[in-house]
Amino acid sequence: MEKIKTNIKGLDVLLGGGIPSRHNVFICGGPGTGKTSLSMEFLYRGAVGGESGLFLSLEEDVDSLVENVNATFTKWSKFNQLVKEKKLMLVTQESYIHVDMPETGVSPYYTFSKLHDKLDEVIDDNKIKRVVIDSASILNLFFDNDLEYRRTVLNLLRDLKKKGCTAMLTAELQNVNRDTVRFAIEHFVTDGVILLYLLEQQERRISAIEVLKMRGCEHSKVLTPFKITSNGIEVYVGERVY
Ligand SMILES: Nc1ncnc2c1ncn2[C@@H]1O[C@H](COP(=O)(O)OP(=O)(O)O)[C@@H](O)[C@H]1O
Ligand SMILES: [Mg+2]
Repeated sequence: MEKIKTNIKGLDVLLGGGIPSRHNVFICGGPGTGKTSLSMEFLYRGAVGGESGLFLSLEEDVDSLVENVNATFTKWSKFNQLVKEKKLMLVTQESYIHVDMPETGVSPYYTFSKLHDKLDEVIDDNKIKRVVIDSASILNLFFDNDLEYRRTVLNLLRDLKKKGCTAMLTAELQNVNRDTVRFAIEHFVTDGVILLYLLEQQERRISAIEVLKMRGCEHSKVLTPFKITSNGIEVYVGERVY
């Protein structure tokens, strides 16, 4: 099975080589655990290595996304250039779907199917290999019920696969608890699940990562500490959290 290396320090060791090509992985965790950072680094490392990436941001606009990346990852010297060259494409739903309601003229509305079509087109036109959707939890808001949400996410994931894309979708979980998190809805429709935690330890908080599921991989099942550094995420394989 062909593996796509994330090239995030230590992560490929946990994954048993990388993410299987064309698989989709949910990055789950509470707020501030590093979901956006990790998925952005997945695209950055890909783009540096010649694989174009698409980051669909449903949570923040492109300007603030760029600002945050530049503030956090001060050593990513190629980031702005890659964005400029469209090898790392940052888009929001507003970049594509912006239909002013004729009656009111105020509130823009969008439908998911339009967004899906547009993504298809952009992926083809730009030979995109890696896709991030940040976050799938926001996607959920497009729908009235969970069944429709699941069906749509499945559809999207199937399409990305068909196009040869390897994907990360972030999902915000409240109160991430190692024992109960296994049953969140996203886990059932996806090839892989990576969990991010912020653990409280005495007076400090420690970031930790766990590969919960990765189809086709003999992956680590150990909760492993990591740090967000100015050059990217570093996973400290072999170290324990406690
Ligand atoms: N310059 C920085 N150096 C180290 N850590 C940072 C820096 N900037 C942000 N962070 C950390 O990254 C976290 C946010 O990560 P982010 O990927 O946005 O999380 P999420 O998407 O899960 O909400 C912050 O809570 C902060 O701890
Ligand atoms: Mg985020």
